[in-house]
Amino acid sequence: MQTIITDNYDALSRHSADMVAGQVAANPASIICFASGETPTGMLKYLVNHALEHKVNFSECRFIGLDEWVGLGKDDEASCGNYLYTNFFTPLSIRPENIMIFNGLAEAEEECNRMNAWLQANGPVDIMIVGIGLNGHIGLNEPGSDFDSGAHVSNLTSNTITTAQKYFSRQTSLVWGITLGLKNFSEATMPILMASGQKKAAIIHQALQGPVNPGVPASILQRLTNAYVILDKAAASLLSDIK
Ligand code: PGA
Repeated sequence: MQTIITDNYDALSRHSADMVAGQVAANPASIICFASGETPTGMLKYLVNHALEHKVNFSECRFIGLDEWVGLGKDDEASCGNYLYTNFFTPLSIRPENIMIFNGLAEAEEECNRMNAWLQANGPVDIMIVGIGLNGHIGLNEPGSDFDSGAHVSNLTSNTITTAQKYFSRQTSLVWGITLGLKNFSEATMPILMASGQKKAAIIHQALQGPVNPGVPASILQRLTNAYVILDKAAASLLSDIK
């Protein structure tokens, strides 16, 4: 695991976008998994601009979704699918056949089987960029998730349900999520975790410098020699002895 500390959110976004663009230049047919949420929005803006300026070409890439709220489809404003369409697929006119995202309206177990079968045939993911929840989750791999899991249905914790209300314009009932698993993350050619802001400092410290255990799913990063953690100074503020 290599930790990169940037000055602020803009620098974090720019750096992450440059890493993605570099990987796509090296392998134009990359399989890319972007998280949704507040953290990746700046990076996606840079990537859309780079692509519109012909500095990076995503036309041969395929995109796999990280997670989804069960019960929400891509036409629901606060779904993860909607976020990816709004912030990336639509502005770049990504071809539908290159997009593989969870449908939160479909039967959840079948949706996981569909994703697992797709990854079996096409994987592993080349670049997988995730954020971190305040409880240490990656995607919707909640505390206690198996490090060896593929796509699966996840029982959301109250912490995730409460925090997720920031994505919704009105109070929304959430119970289950569907998510790629920690095995998919650890098998990615380039697994990347991004975190920004003081509110993430405590969980980043716990994940990167505390014991490795499923109680903090993001602690899996400590085992991944090929992984990158990209932080801004605020998110890194409780870390000691960064190499
Ligand atoms: P955020 O979400 O980027 O909105 O903070 C991160 C996460 O819960 O994985």
